[in-house]
Amino acid sequence: MRIAILGGRGTLGTLVAGALEQRGHEVAVLGRRDGVDALTGEGLDAALVGVDVVVDALNFQGMSAKKARAFFGGTARTVTAAAARAGVRRVVVVSIAGAADPEVHRRHGYYAGKAEQEAAYLAAATGRAAEGAPVTIVHSTQWFELVDQMVSMIPLGPAALLPTMRMAAVSAGSVAAFVAATAERDAADDTLPVVRSLAIRGPEVATGAELARTIAAVRGTVGGRRPRVFWELPLFGKAIASGGLVPGGPRGEAVIGAAGGVEPVTVDPVTVREWAGRGERG
Ligand SMILES: NC(=O)c1ccc[n+]([C@@H]2O[C@H](COP(=O)([O-])OP(=O)(O)OC[C@H]3O[C@@H](n4cnc5c(N)ncnc54)[C@H](OP(=O)(O)O)[C@@H]3O)[C@@H](O)[C@H]2O)c1
Repeated sequence: MRIAILGGRGTLGTLVAGALEQRGHEVAVLGRRDGVDALTGEGLDAALVGVDVVVDALNFQGMSAKKARAFFGGTARTVTAAAARAGVRRVVVVSIAGAADPEVHRRHGYYAGKAEQEAAYLAAATGRAAEGAPVTIVHSTQWFELVDQMVSMIPLGPAALLPTMRMAAVSAGSVAAFVAATAERDAADDTLPVVRSLAIRGPEVATGAELARTIAAVRGTVGGRRPRVFWELPLFGKAIASGGLVPGGPRGEAVIGAAGGVEPVTVDPVTVREWAGRGERG
């Protein structure tokens, strides 16, 4: 199969590309460095000729809701329209479990952008003009790698300060393998609904500070530092602090999906201790 990966040089995109190549697919890595801009559409039509499935692993850095909505909504509309024109069978987009819930993204501009992205893909796939491609939304929880990034962002001497987030964190490598398998399977199955969603999460629920403490205990460092104390503050509001990012309750039961149907939740078995013990970092 020919599979195009938007954001294919990013953290997740690189891993998805590797997983798909290992499965014997022809992979086209697309980003601005490759002459493809997913926001303006530059180079996109030409890059999608002959492509069976598109993986959207694009990202935007920042917390402004206005800018995040413009980026994620804009790229989603551009990508789905180009995919439909090219006859791509399906777009698989990587999103964040819980982010589309208004209670969750009310105080998190980046998550508001992810909500806009999902809404744009959904509207295009189901709209009366059918101007978009069929879409599979993969709702991933936060990656262990994110904990390193969060700790390195606020340098506070011997202390690590993190926003209070209850997460069922998962390894980016596991999410990439799941996205690759989903892209392969969904592109080959004409019987799937035009919109479907799946979730993947890790096996344990913990806050960012608890995860950071475990990573530091196993690996010696977290976020390139050796903090002695770990603090957290509910900077992103109550829903994020109290489990709004965790799909499927304590045991990962199925939840209601993007199109209103049942969304199956896959619980990846890799724990934070196992991940940190491998020496991987974000
Ligand atoms: N971090 C987490 O815990 C987590 C959890 C769940 C889901 N996710 C989602 O996973 C996705 C991927 O995240 P990531 O951290 O792997 O991303 P990343 O490392 O920041 O990479 C993003 C990629 O997007 C490309 N890009 C940005 N703007 C572009 C544009 N206008 N046109 C074409 N390409 C563009 C960049 O390539 P160029 O600069 O070369 O264009 C880059 O390769 C995101 O949507 C994120 O929300 C993340």
